[in-house]
Amino acid sequence: MNLNMSATTHTPVLLDEVVSALAVQPGGRYVDCTLGGGGHAAAILERSAPGGQLLGIDADPAAIKVAGGKLAAHRDSILLVNANFVKLQAICLEYDFQPVHGILFDLGVSSLQLDGADRGFSFQHEAPLDMRFSPDQEVTVDDIVNRYSEAEIARIIRTYGEEGYSHRIARHIVKERPVKTTLELARMIEQAVGGRKGRIHPATKTFQALRIAVNHELENLESALRQAVDLLGYGGRLVVISYHSLEDRIVKQFMQREARGCICPPGIPACVCGHTARLRVLNKKIITPSLQEVQLNPRSRSARLRSAECITVGGEYREVSERLCWLVGDNANGWRRPALLAKLRMTYLAS
Ligand SMILES: C[S@@+](CC[C@H](N)C(=O)[O-])C[C@H]1O[C@@H](n2cnc3c(N)ncnc32)[C@H](O)[C@@H]1O
Repeated sequence: MNLNMSATTHTPVLLDEVVSALAVQPGGRYVDCTLGGGGHAAAILERSAPGGQLLGIDADPAAIKVAGGKLAAHRDSILLVNANFVKLQAICLEYDFQPVHGILFDLGVSSLQLDGADRGFSFQHEAPLDMRFSPDQEVTVDDIVNRYSEAEIARIIRTYGEEGYSHRIARHIVKERPVKTTLELARMIEQAVGGRKGRIHPATKTFQALRIAVNHELENLESALRQAVDLLGYGGRLVVISYHSLEDRIVKQFMQREARGCICPPGIPACVCGHTARLRVLNKKIITPSLQEVQLNPRSRSARLRSAECITVGGEYREVSERLCWLVGDNANGWRRPALLAKLRMTYLAS
């Protein structure tokens, strides 16, 4: 996999809305789980100066390289990690980066990846069938379309693309394979569904499905959201931009569940779940880009932003940081002064 993808830039979506939903403040500590071209990260760093810190994560080493260049002026305030955000908690623990004031997920692919000549994310450019975010991942789209059974291909296209013609497309792919490039695959899909009908290309849903399957996007998102809540300090913000209904449903249901106390099934006489609300949903209605933004950046058109605020003191540091509050002079909400607390914590844990 060639990591060159600097042919274009990525325009950050809902930029002002993200900064506002994160309530970015000077000296705040933020995690950008989907660094991409670094557009959101740059805005967060500007608004959190002086003293702000940002941990940026991306599974794609090329994104880390591009964002590293863009954020060079902030080098003393950033930490960039090339990893999957499914390891969010381990990464924050490793770098002692918690509790945090805000966590951002801007899901999906960047323009840098979509337009990357050899990444295979777009059915508009000729490219090998890849679509991996990271070259370390084993399975590519090529593996799925050329090696998986017809039933499995159909399941992937139906489940992750919500494509009504999943069986027809899978049958056609299996009959015609091997298929080697994105344009070949797009043509096969078009043939399978009987040609182009509307404005939307018939390969759109299948390409989405294959990308989600190759990168385990939905499973990773569910896991990372759970980890994110544990990392937020009291009042910390969780902000997620999703680009299709499957992702958005996961985010919506997660935030709703975490905003509820008891989640026992109806009819149970007394609570047995012990669940407590940890989030307060900030925008019940999704935030979408303005007409003007969509005109300037058509790729923003399907974006939906949801945000929530942490209403508990989360994670493993709770006990340690609360007991140390009086020592570091912080309030009782679990916030700490990083350097001072790190020293005190070691003393505390050693005693
Ligand atoms: C829409 S782009 C983010 C753009 C970014 N907000 C900006 O302003 O430039 C999504 C990025 O998330 C990364 N990504 C997607 N899923 C990921 C995951 N599970 N772990 C780490 N990075 C991921 C992709 O590689 C891509 O670079």
